[in-house]
Amino acid sequence: MTVTLGEGRTPLLHAPRLSERFGVDIWLKWEGANPTGSFKDRGMSVAVTKAVEEGATGVICASTGNTAASAAAYAARAGIEAIIVVAGGAAASSKLVQVRAVGGRIVEVPGTFSDAYAEAARLAVDGVVLVNSTNEHRIEGQKTAAFEVLEQLGEMPDVLALPYGGGGNTKAYARGFLEKTGELPRFHPTEAERRADTVASAIRIVEPNHLAEVQAVLERSGGSVVTVNDDELVAAWRMLGTEEGLFCEPASAAGIAAVARGVAQPGERVVCVVTGHGLKDPDAIQRLAL
Ligand code: F0G
Repeated sequence: MTVTLGEGRTPLLHAPRLSERFGVDIWLKWEGANPTGSFKDRGMSVAVTKAVEEGATGVICASTGNTAASAAAYAARAGIEAIIVVAGGAAASSKLVQVRAVGGRIVEVPGTFSDAYAEAARLAVDGVVLVNSTNEHRIEGQKTAAFEVLEQLGEMPDVLALPYGGGGNTKAYARGFLEKTGELPRFHPTEAERRADTVASAIRIVEPNHLAEVQAVLERSGGSVVTVNDDELVAAWRMLGTEEGLFCEPASAAGIAAVARGVAQPGERVVCVVTGHGLKDPDAIQRLAL
C-alpha cells in the first residue's frame, strides 16, 4: 500500500518580472505546494511506504524542520511512530508545530545538524527506520521533480539553481534528469555563507551528507556551488514575494540569489527550485518583512 498525501505534480511557474530584471528566462518549481509545504514529501512517501513494507514500527530523522514535518505526517498516515531529532533551537517554530499536530515525538540534542544526525542514526534500531536523505528511497521519490520539470517545460532547461543543504535534492534532480535524458542542465546548488547560523534556517548544515555526489554532479554538468550571504538571500526572498507573488521560506529563494549573482547567461532558461512555503518560518518573516 502506498503511503501518500497527494505529493508531487507541483506547478512550474513562469517568472516574467524576475526574467525581465535579470535578462534570463526564469521558471519557478513551486515545491511549497506539496502537502506539508516542502519538497520533502516526494521522497517521504516512498521512504515511509518502503519502511511499512519492511515491517517498521516507526521512522526517525534528524532535521532542520522540513524533513521532520514531512516524516511525522507520513508516519501518522501510515499509523506508525515518528521520532524527530533536532539540534537545540535550530528548527523553525512552525515546522515543529507541524510535527506536534500529527503526533510526532521531538527529541532535542545539543550541537549542530550533524550531531542530530548522528543521534538519529544511533536510535534507528529495532524496527525504527532512518528517513533522512541517506535513505535511498528518499532520493528515488525526489527525482520525480526532475521528471516533472522536463514534462512541464517540454525540454531540458539550461540551468538548475536550488538551495544546497545536505545535497540530497541536488543528487535527486541529477538522477531524474539522467534517467530520462542521459543529460544534465548546469547545476548551481546555492549555499549560505553563514552556514551555521544563516537566516535561512532550513539549510543550516555545515557538513553536507552528499558532498561527494554533489561534486560529481558539478563536474559532469559544468556547474558550480554558489555561496551567497544573508543579505542576498533576503533580497531574493523579497523579490519572489513582491514581484512574483510567491511566498517562500528564506532558504527557498537561494536559486534566485544565484541568478542575481549572474550564474545564467543572457537568454538562458533557468529553473529555480523554490523548496518550501513561507508560512513555515514566521520568525524570519517578523524579522525581515518590509
Ligand atoms: N530547502 C529547504 C526548504 C529545506 O528544508 C532543505 C533541507 C533544503 C532546501 C536543502 O535540501 O538538504 O537536499 O540539499 N532541509 C533538511 C531538513 C535539512 O531537515 O528539512 P538538501
